[in-house]
Amino acid sequence: MWPTAEERGVEPGPQARQDGGGSRRSSDAGRSAAAAAAVTRERPSPYDPGRGSATQVPGSRSEVGGRLGTMARAGMERWRDRLALVTGASGGIGAAVARALVQQGLKVVGCARTVGNIEELAAECKSAGYPGTLIPYKCDLSSEEDILSMFSAVRSQYSGVDICINNAGLARADTLLSGSTSGWKDMFNVNVLALSICTREAYQSMKERKVDDGHIININSMSGHRVVPQSMTHFYSATKYAVTALTEGLRQELREAQTHIRATCISPGLVETQFAFKLHDKDPEKAAATYEHIKCLKPEDVAEAVIYVLSTAPHVQVSLALVVHPLEEPSHPQRRRAGRP
Ligand SMILES: NC(=O)c1ccc[n+]([C@@H]2O[C@H](COP(=O)([O-])OP(=O)(O)OC[C@H]3O[C@@H](n4cnc5c(N)ncnc54)[C@H](OP(=O)(O)O)[C@@H]3O)[C@@H](O)[C@H]2O)c1
Repeated sequence: MWPTAEERGVEPGPQARQDGGGSRRSSDAGRSAAAAAAVTRERPSPYDPGRGSATQVPGSRSEVGGRLGTMARAGMERWRDRLALVTGASGGIGAAVARALVQQGLKVVGCARTVGNIEELAAECKSAGYPGTLIPYKCDLSSEEDILSMFSAVRSQYSGVDICINNAGLARADTLLSGSTSGWKDMFNVNVLALSICTREAYQSMKERKVDDGHIININSMSGHRVVPQSMTHFYSATKYAVTALTEGLRQELREAQTHIRATCISPGLVETQFAFKLHDKDPEKAAATYEHIKCLKPEDVAEAVIYVLSTAPHVQVSLALVVHPLEEPSHPQRRRAGRP
């Protein structure tokens, strides 16, 4: 179901405000991702990447507004008016990605449980005059029924999904030796199962409409590539290793299916969002400290990496965009002291 009038009244959470700060820092994170990504040439595609024309947008609280808003990214023109699903769009990285896609002229279905935040973002995008639209959808991704209803609503109202950004994710402080099974299930259900269900449904949606140039992007983590000696993130790290395997498996299955649909995972380092505050929900000072010891990535840095990946020519497969981490990311011992995710 699309959100009801009552649901639209949900107060925005602190994340919406936190993200509102924007940053004036000029970061090369997106370009680093571009440079370091594993890029391979896929089979020739009938699609032309097209070249974007300039899209002028008014000042935005988002850093992406500054970087991408005044200049549509070359290669993004072919995505105009097409539909992207962004999971976990109520805050953090998902909200920044949803906004960046709307700025590039896409129709974006943004889903999460806190749909009020997405409604607020949709209103901002509209009043800023961005060329795309953000469509808020309330969905608990730990429920398969909710996910299937969302895909069926998208099919009946907007035909289907062309881009799926599996971003929603969480960490609970449940260690391997004494953590709760329910905490592990929460992580597994969203980080692994929901991502897999959304991927399957997005692929089926593309297939039934003969969409051959779709894109599935998984927001992974550096924790999906190395295990940090910090016990409370070990199960989380296991879910992110699963995302690494799932993305590569997906890429292989898509090739076997002889489609040009692409699969990419983007693995950020530390990004300043509400993530650590949810992980350390009983110790906000510890959560805040996570983001204080280095200059972290902003959600917009990751959004820029997403735009880069989407803007590559259709014959280019960026399978693993690894290096989206802060310039000042410390060595492991420092990381251990800081208690980072
Ligand atoms: N922050 C970092 O340092 C960092 C680093 C590397 C990778 N990542 C990854 O980046 C992704 C986004 O994280 P973030 O930092 O933006 O965290 P965040 O600010 O906590 O946002 C998480 C998003 O996931 C959604 N979500 C969680 N459980 C959900 C559920 N059951 N149903 C629907 N939506 C759900 C949340 O929405 P609701 O709560 O409103 O449902 C929220 O929109 C995650 O996959 C995370 O693992 C983060």
